[in-house]
Amino acid sequence: MIPVVLSGGSGTRLWPLSRGHYPKQFLPLVTKQTMVQETLLRLSGLKGLKAPIAVCNESHRFMMAEQLWEIGIKPAAIILEPVGKNTAPAVAMAALSATSPDDVLLVLPADHVIANIPAFHLAVSQAKELAQQGFLVTFGIVASTPETGYGYIKRSNTAHGAAFAVEAFVEKPDLATATDYVQSGAYFWNSGMFAFTAGSFLAELAAFNPAMLAVCRQALAAAKTDLDFTRVDKALFSTCPSDSIDYAVMEKTTKAVVIPLDAGWNDVGSWSALWEVTDKDAFGNAISGDVLTVDSHNSYIHAGNKLVAAIGVDNLVIVETDDAVMIAPKDRVQEVKDIVAQLKAAR
Ligand code: GDD
Ligand code: MG
Repeated sequence: MIPVVLSGGSGTRLWPLSRGHYPKQFLPLVTKQTMVQETLLRLSGLKGLKAPIAVCNESHRFMMAEQLWEIGIKPAAIILEPVGKNTAPAVAMAALSATSPDDVLLVLPADHVIANIPAFHLAVSQAKELAQQGFLVTFGIVASTPETGYGYIKRSNTAHGAAFAVEAFVEKPDLATATDYVQSGAYFWNSGMFAFTAGSFLAELAAFNPAMLAVCRQALAAAKTDLDFTRVDKALFSTCPSDSIDYAVMEKTTKAVVIPLDAGWNDVGSWSALWEVTDKDAFGNAISGDVLTVDSHNSYIHAGNKLVAAIGVDNLVIVETDDAVMIAPKDRVQEVKDIVAQLKAAR
């Protein structure tokens, strides 16, 4: 099994800590290890693992190489994308780089937290067997709130080992639809992790988006290799259609199965999610850096350079960095994206 670490996202919802040149997956947000490092470290103990393939933006190549080296991992390849074309081309290039079409790829976003490692390992072992039978395996988290940033998976009653055939996969439904799904109790959230053989994934992509597959094949064939880096050809890859694996393949395939995963999964997609997974003091405050509090509760407070002092604040997120301070109620942190949009428009 080859771990494929997807690490090309920009993590804007964790602004101002996560930046374009230093996105969240390369930061030690939850533990002392960065999220990329945690992604691979949490596999340790699994049997039959081959060297991982990392796929990231060209501009992050040294961070990626250094962070893998720091944890003693020698990658099979670090595939460098000259531009981001979302996850479907990234997975396609990893699949094309596998030595055999029978290699099982374990696709892992680089920015998740999983608390229960034994439960995760069990699900991965089950997924490997199903992947070897030709299934495209998803890992489903019981959908508890109508999040619109997730894919939703409806399971059928047809069991395949530990998994169920997928009746429907709906990527990022609107709020009304997501609310119906959650109320029905029949849906899982897509965790964003997948297992399949390189051959099965490429066959599905060939069926649903042959143009994308063709460009990925050409861009990879024209790639230049130095050290562990595979530098994908810019002129060719720039012409690649942009799409996520969820829209490009998972919504369309009839070969998907879902393994229910109850392992304390969290995609740390926002400051409030980060507060949830971080250790807290006796007052429910998650604190990092030089922070003092008086009569303050249930807040996330990060001090980068200065001393940050909070008095009588509840349910706030306060993030201080070199060049920005962000303060928001914990239940409005999704609106960070509006600030990022304003910043992009202004610069
Ligand atoms: N190499 C590469 N290139 N990686 C990418 C790119 C890219 O262009 N774009 C995103 N990634 C990486 C991100 O860094 C992240 O680790 C992973 O791929 C998933 O991308 P996100 O952008 O975070 O996806 P999402 O959160 O909107 O949605 C996905 O994850 C949800 C769960 O967290 C989907 O799979 C949803 O269905 C799922 O519910
Ligand atoms: Mg995500």
